[in-house]
Amino acid sequence: MGLKIYMNTITGTNVKTDVNTLKRMKYLIDKLYEYHKLEADEFAFLLENHTASTGVSSIADKKNYTDDENNTNDKNYTDEIESISQYLFEKSRSVAQKYYSNKIYIRGLIEFTNYCRNDCYYCGIRRSNKKADRYRLSFDEILSCCDKGYALGFRTFVLQGGEDLSYSDDDMCHIIYAIKSKYPDCAVTLSIGERSYESYLKYYKAGADRYLLRHETASPTHYRLLHPKNQTLANRKQCLYNLKEIGYQVGTGFMVGSPYQTTRDIVEDLLFIKEFNPHMIGIGPFIPHKDTPFFNKPAGTLELTLFLIGILRLMVPNALIPATTALATIHPQGREKGILAGANVVMPNLSPVHVRKKYTLYDNKICTGEEAAECRFCLQKRIESIGYEIVVDRGDCKPILPS
Ligand code: 5AD
Ligand code: FES
Repeated sequence: MGLKIYMNTITGTNVKTDVNTLKRMKYLIDKLYEYHKLEADEFAFLLENHTASTGVSSIADKKNYTDDENNTNDKNYTDEIESISQYLFEKSRSVAQKYYSNKIYIRGLIEFTNYCRNDCYYCGIRRSNKKADRYRLSFDEILSCCDKGYALGFRTFVLQGGEDLSYSDDDMCHIIYAIKSKYPDCAVTLSIGERSYESYLKYYKAGADRYLLRHETASPTHYRLLHPKNQTLANRKQCLYNLKEIGYQVGTGFMVGSPYQTTRDIVEDLLFIKEFNPHMIGIGPFIPHKDTPFFNKPAGTLELTLFLIGILRLMVPNALIPATTALATIHPQGREKGILAGANVVMPNLSPVHVRKKYTLYDNKICTGEEAAECRFCLQKRIESIGYEIVVDRGDCKPILPS
């Protein structure tokens, strides 16, 4: 293999990539497998070389990529790096197998409101999107989603919505308590954004088990570029720490390839996740939505998202990691590929079909026309086709095992 020179997409400097680069990437993957952590520069090395090789950078312009030889060598090098990804995925799959065998947990997602007081620049249900067709599900509608879901084998219900304060704390507690009383063998997960410590405590006491709140980006400067001034990373992180202190199983995560994201930002995400040590980690590619300020920004890539799933699995071996709908939206086999990279959760939609299309955070979201039962059986077939099985289980996080 010839010595190659790739333009470092972030710093603009030339990076020499040769057989030593590949060796070092393997070494770093082994080290992550062994010790579950790497230094910032080591993560950066893995990500830079992965991104340079695939040629589809979600984090910088593809044109920055130069080559001193011909396309055949390019292809060879890309194949080599592809084999590094496969090397990572063999390891990340084996770790997922060690904790969860070939079992895939399902979560029934109930998107109960698309009203939102926030204005994240990337999100289709942001307050300023006047074109969004808003809806709220009633108490009875939410309960009937759970009834349907329970019959289909779901043992976790995720109540997800925009930050909609018209559901008061009492309303939320009423819903949570009703679900837990009717289905005591199920977990209730909330995903309703930033609230006060007191509110989180009330929901927990009403029976909520888990909370999903992606940090979105762990870099304060990047956070500023994705959100208006009144939304801060500091508050987001405080919410995450509050949730953990109260006793929730907590999930966080970020978008891959969100506008202005650099390798350094992703490294900060990884370091924050390591420090926070969440039970669940949700990542998916950024996908533009036509009625947002980021309508013309490029989407994140499949390759980098899968690579990061692999890294996260090695970093937090017992984490619950979904193969997200966004991943399945950018590639027809996105969910299967996510599982083969180390994910162990899928979160199909239980919302009534008449509201599905209205909960569009990004364009072209899949499964917006299917009934819950169709999705459930389609998923089962897909998951069985790659040698995994969906289980009827709450799917709690397993304790960490000795290495
Ligand atoms: N593309 C991909 N993911 C998005 N989210 C919001 N908008 C988008 C988008 N345009 C993600 C955010 C949020 C989660 C519910 O959906 O990370 O936390
Ligand atoms: Fe919804 Fe396949 S998972 S149709």
